[in-house]
Amino acid sequence: MTALDFPYDFIGELLISQHQIQERVDSLGEQITKDYLHSEKLLLLGLLRGSVVFMTDLMRQIRRPLTLDFMSISSYSGSESTGFVRIDSDHKSNISGWDVILIDDIIDSGYTIHTIRKLLMDRNPKSLKVCTLLDKVERRQVDLQIDYCGFQIPDHFVVGYGLDIDEKGRNLPYIASVDLEKYRQNK
Ligand code: IMP
Ligand code: MG
Repeated sequence: MTALDFPYDFIGELLISQHQIQERVDSLGEQITKDYLHSEKLLLLGLLRGSVVFMTDLMRQIRRPLTLDFMSISSYSGSESTGFVRIDSDHKSNISGWDVILIDDIIDSGYTIHTIRKLLMDRNPKSLKVCTLLDKVERRQVDLQIDYCGFQIPDHFVVGYGLDIDEKGRNLPYIASVDLEKYRQNK
């Protein structure tokens, strides 16, 4: 499959193929299965909407009983961070006593995870780990521990496999860079 199979005119380069993603998600699932062998209260907490594709694939590779919950967060507009994190919708379950894995699509400055992590710690989970599909490590502004990471990527704005630019591109089955010049021209 080529990028041309999808009608988006802003796709730059293909960075991570569908096959590479699948292999990495399988091994993350195996690792999490091992790490939580003794947990009976495992909760995957996904940040909407970017983490949805990753989370639904990952959960099927975790061979443990688990439950799901979600928080809806806004921090980005287009390809620019707005610099603050807004909670549009909070998680519904009580996380006190649960082993929580916070799941996001990509970590950039780190502010989102840093802010949400602090908030969740006040809610007394038994444990709290962070799992991200992608990490733009050179953009980091705050010190963060990331427990599970799919891929470290260079500083490109990317779309696909759940990630978007202004809500577009989430349905691409691979990760591609955005050609920002083309995107701005055709906006
Ligand atoms: P942070 O707070 O700067 O770490 O931003 C993290 C959030 O920004 C992610 O959850 C994404 O929603 C969004 N984001 C950052 N970089 C990208 C990108 O390259 N493509 C799509 N979304 C991104
Ligand atoms: Mg996000």
